[in-house]
Amino acid sequence: MGFLPIHRIITLAFCAASLLPSCASDSRLLPNKPLTFGSKLISDDGTFALGFFSPSNSGGNHYYVGIWYNSIPKDNVVWVANRAAPVTDPSSATLALTDRSNLVLSNTDGQPLWMANVSAPGNLPSSENVTGEATLDNTGNFVLRTSEGAVLWQSFDHPTDTLLPGMNLRVTHNRLELQRLISWKGPQDPSPGSFSYGADPYQFLQRFALNGSRPYWRSPVLTNYLMVGSYMESIKSTIFFTVRRIEDEIYMAFGMPGSSSTVKIKMDYSGKIKILVWNSKMLEWNDLQVAPEPECNTYGYCGAFGFCDNTEPVPICKCLDGFEPISKEDGSNGRFPKGCRRKEELRCGRENRFLTLTAMKIPDKFVYVKNRSFEECSAECTSNCSCTAYAYANMNTTAINGDDTRCLIWMGDLIDTGKGKLIGTGENLYIRVNRLSDKKRWGNILKITLPVVSSLLVLICMWLVWICNCQAKQRNKKIWKNMISGALSNSGELEDGKFPFFSFREIVLATNNFSSSNMLGHGGFGNVYKGTLERGKKIAVKRLSKGSGQGTLEFRNEAVLIAKLQHRNLVKLLGFCIHGDEKLLIYEYLPNKSLDAFLFSMFSFCLANFQ
Ligand SMILES: *[C@@H]1O[C@H](CO)[C@@H](O)[C@H](O)[C@H]1NC(C)=O
Ligand SMILES: *[C@@H]1O[C@H](CO)[C@@H](O)[C@H](O)[C@H]1NC(C)=O
Ligand SMILES: *[C@@H]1O[C@H](CO)[C@@H](O)[C@H](O)[C@H]1NC(C)=O
Ligand SMILES: *[C@@H]1O[C@H](CO)[C@@H](O)[C@H](O)[C@H]1NC(C)=O
Ligand SMILES: *[C@@H]1O[C@H](CO)[C@@H](O)[C@H](O)[C@H]1NC(C)=O
Ligand SMILES: *[C@@H]1O[C@H](CO)[C@@H](O)[C@H](O)[C@H]1NC(C)=O
Repeated sequence: MGFLPIHRIITLAFCAASLLPSCASDSRLLPNKPLTFGSKLISDDGTFALGFFSPSNSGGNHYYVGIWYNSIPKDNVVWVANRAAPVTDPSSATLALTDRSNLVLSNTDGQPLWMANVSAPGNLPSSENVTGEATLDNTGNFVLRTSEGAVLWQSFDHPTDTLLPGMNLRVTHNRLELQRLISWKGPQDPSPGSFSYGADPYQFLQRFALNGSRPYWRSPVLTNYLMVGSYMESIKSTIFFTVRRIEDEIYMAFGMPGSSSTVKIKMDYSGKIKILVWNSKMLEWNDLQVAPEPECNTYGYCGAFGFCDNTEPVPICKCLDGFEPISKEDGSNGRFPKGCRRKEELRCGRENRFLTLTAMKIPDKFVYVKNRSFEECSAECTSNCSCTAYAYANMNTTAINGDDTRCLIWMGDLIDTGKGKLIGTGENLYIRVNRLSDKKRWGNILKITLPVVSSLLVLICMWLVWICNCQAKQRNKKIWKNMISGALSNSGELEDGKFPFFSFREIVLATNNFSSSNMLGHGGFGNVYKGTLERGKKIAVKRLSKGSGQGTLEFRNEAVLIAKLQHRNLVKLLGFCIHGDEKLLIYEYLPNKSLDAFLFSMFSFCLANFQ
């Protein structure tokens, strides 16, 4: 043996000091030192342990050899050797490295229960005697190496129900078999259960969780060979999935960059595929992702042309655009087991167009057409009427299968489609639908443009009315001004200064300070009073309501004008009076004329025009 690594010296020193029996363990299984019940191997950094264990509640007579997180108290088993053949009497059962470089687990009676069946690779010495040692690495991998360091066998190549960071899960089967995680039968029963997780045997681009042989859940389709990450808020880190090629096969792996978190992917006995992270504060495993969840993400749950909408607060099944539920009742509970159908029979050829649906988990049963640009991929689908959809991705590297394009087309029903909230970012799905008929297109155009046009029209009308009003006022003013100036210029005697002006005092005296006994009546433009001038002349005074909004000058001009336009059928205007806010018109008082003559004399008419 060479120099011991420093951490092992520390471990040994610590063990010597504490004298704990379990500490006497090593990370290595040597040919002449079988592992027995009660002892275990511990990885150099203390993370993982390998040895005999018995799941609690298993009745006490079922023992297994497995690997577990050494410092995590529960749900800590990540690998089991003899899951189908438990040790029933562990007293002198052994896990031994034989001198033929095989790992053998024997029952107390010496019968082998499990064998690693190491087959020496061709490049090893022809001698069968290639014994090295088996080591439990810090990654949780139990590795049997030759004395020269070549790997003969490793537990990472024989996964059970758990995928650890650094493990590669084979997703192709060119020369070797496809690898799958296989669930336990129950929470305390490591024997193989009915659920498994691994690649689609026909298509390494996606993985399935199966219940027996039936799909239970399907992963999103790969959109990048380099790395597909998903940020996890709860651990403030990214879980990434990556694909790598080793010799003839393609493998999938996952990890968390630069993180010391304890994380694993587990095919749970319940059928759920879980990404779990150990919470060292709460001492429990937290779910980072559980699939299929909620129920509508179960494989094919929403039927053909339906999809599970995870963007809803409570995810429900919906029909893709242009489709409707086959059976109406099914829609009520958010499920369309019979799926959806086209609202309108697909017309072929130029009558079609493609709708772009974003952030989709694209459907199953695609055809992978190699070496196509996006335009070629689109054309591939457009040109064949039976093609219902296509999707495209640039995979960033040709190192995986010699092709960095990923053109997928669908020739029939679209099943197991989803939207939102999935690992992997989601992608565009282009689905074939009918071009809108002319009638519908016009309907749509109207639907959009009608409100716009009508509100515009309303605005234009309001504007026109405003303009008209203004112009009308302007025009009226102009007409009156012209008339006034015409009238004034035509008249020598009624020039500005000469038009009879009464003093306010004079009128106050005449009307007895506008006493109510003098009031003849009142109208919209003010009250009318009877009065007697000092000279004894009877007058009627129309006192215009205050705030008629008319300027003094205008009032005066109008009064001048009215005086000029006297007509024999109208009461004669004698003059006017302006005093502060007061504007008064003084008419000749004719006892026989009706009050209306005063109230609605021409001046009121003028005012009405001006207001
Ligand atoms: C090893 O080989 C034996 C006999 O061929 C077989 O029964 C057993 O399942 C194999 N063990 C493993 C772990 O593949
Ligand atoms: C195997 O190796 C051991 C010691 O390393 C040696 O004693 C034994 O002779 C070897 N057997 C064969 C068949 O080479
Ligand atoms: C798995 O399949 C079995 C038998 O086909 C069935 O009874 C069981 O309900 C299924 N489990 C789930 C979770 O779908
Ligand atoms: C990919 O297609 C182009 C033409 O579209 C062709 O020139 C090229 O050889 C093809 N490459 C492979 C690897 O098939
Ligand atoms: C369209 O695709 C179907 C199914 O792949 C095929 O049978 C058919 O020949 C194709 N039609 C054309 C015109 O390419
Ligand atoms: C992959 O390629 C796309 C487009 O070609 C590019 O936008 C993206 O940054 C690349 N991703 C990686 C991880 O290289």
